Amino acid sequence: MPDADDTQPGTAPPPAPEVDPLTGPPRESKRERRRRRRRRARSELPPPIELTIEGFASGGTCVGRGPDGRVVFVEYALPGERVLAEVTSESPSYLEARAIEIREASPRRVEPACPYFGTCGGCQLQHIDYEEQLVLKTGLVRDQLRRIGRFADPPVSPARGMAEPWGYRNHMRFTVRRNGDIGFMRRGTHQFLRVDRCPIAHDAVNAVLKRAQGKTMGTRQLSVRVGEATGELLIQPELRFRPGRRPLASGQEHYHEALGGRLFRISAAAFFQVNTRQAEQLIRIVRERVREARPRVVVDAYSGVGTFAALLARDAEVRVITIEGSAAAGDDADVNLAGLANVTRLTGNVEEILPGLEPAPDLVVVDPPRTGLGPGIVEALLLSACRRLVYVSCDPATLARDLRLLVEGDAAGDRLPFVLRSVEPLDMFPHTQHVECIATLDRQAATPPSDLPPGGDPGGAGEPLPEP
Ligand SMILES: C[S@@+](CC[C@H](N)C(=O)[O-])C[C@H]1O[C@@H](n2cnc3c(N)ncnc32)[C@H](O)[C@@H]1O
Repeated sequence: MPDADDTQPGTAPPPAPEVDPLTGPPRESKRERRRRRRRRARSELPPPIELTIEGFASGGTCVGRGPDGRVVFVEYALPGERVLAEVTSESPSYLEARAIEIREASPRRVEPACPYFGTCGGCQLQHIDYEEQLVLKTGLVRDQLRRIGRFADPPVSPARGMAEPWGYRNHMRFTVRRNGDIGFMRRGTHQFLRVDRCPIAHDAVNAVLKRAQGKTMGTRQLSVRVGEATGELLIQPELRFRPGRRPLASGQEHYHEALGGRLFRISAAAFFQVNTRQAEQLIRIVRERVREARPRVVVDAYSGVGTFAALLARDAEVRVITIEGSAAAGDDADVNLAGLANVTRLTGNVEEILPGLEPAPDLVVVDPPRTGLGPGIVEALLLSACRRLVYVSCDPATLARDLRLLVEGDAAGDRLPFVLRSVEPLDMFPHTQHVECIATLDRQAATPPSDLPPGGDPGGAGEPLPEP
């Protein structure tokens, strides 16, 4: 159905942009989202369509083709299934839909464990058995590196999962209503959904939810964090309980968690990995990738409360320099890294501190927010003396974009580019669309450029796909 808002009277509609089925629906502007909601409210969407699901895309959606050939992103489906899907949004080049009837089910489909699945929106994959979730996430990382990063055969290993993929989230943020009910906002709406238990939340978080449900007053938000190893809680804000209700200690300034055999202080405003058991795997992999290169000076950029630095500094001959922008995380790092004489802590933006840093690092670990590094930091890394880069990422799309820039080299061609050695997906967020990756890159050996594929690995891992 044509979108009246998209066309000018008397002119042909502009051609629909091509949509890449495996990178997921394009990000919408606010204007586009408003327009889509208006059209949805006017019930201008096509009737449900039956289709076969062909693949898995980012955002936890699956992909198929509609009867008119348009790409359809379908929620709550599985590759190989035949489903009836209700269209939730329409654009000239693609549709978004939600499976409402499974006509031919995949053998990997399971009963979701949570009664709120599909309503709260926090999990996207509970209908898929856990082993298959790992296979799909591995494939997604590979696809993003192929399509966005243009690596012909990216060196991606199978995603490492959890032995018990429930009760792992050590930090939950809830919405609280005026009457004291606690829950989340219903997916894609401004409507409240009371929630009594979340199966991906740690038991201690669910215990707080149960104790506080319906009993607080004067707050609209509730954040609950727990140290899995210490049992310490951090509940914010300080809660006021309704008359006659037994209060719960809250408003703590910080709590402690143990990781890699060390205790970390974490303040309310500081970031900490939300899955402690998988964070153990994460720090172990990062440490291995660092030690393999036998560095002298390591920069831990985006260092938070010092999680990586504290463990990397165990190798006494290494000097570790941390860079962190948040003052709260920096204060925690002061405590967590105290007594480690080989660590220097710098507070400020990586963009400003990394270029020209002295002493020059020969190895850099980066763990940026979802937005990734961007061209400025990539250029600083390319111009630095860094021999190995360990890139921890929570978004395969921005990782793929940055890896392409790193293997292509700096604009002036003054320094050798990096070679992509490995990408190791780690499932920090079971049952959700998200996946963490540890990418390891080495500075390309000083071989005559004519012997190497452009921007690539002599072994082929970093070899780019031909331009479309
Ligand atoms: C994904 S967290 C990683 C923290 C740490 N590596 C860990 O595992 O706990 C990203 C961190 O980068 C910090 N950050 C974000 N943007 C920054 C910037 N431009 N410069 C320095 N730090 C930044 C945030 O405050 C946050 O602590």
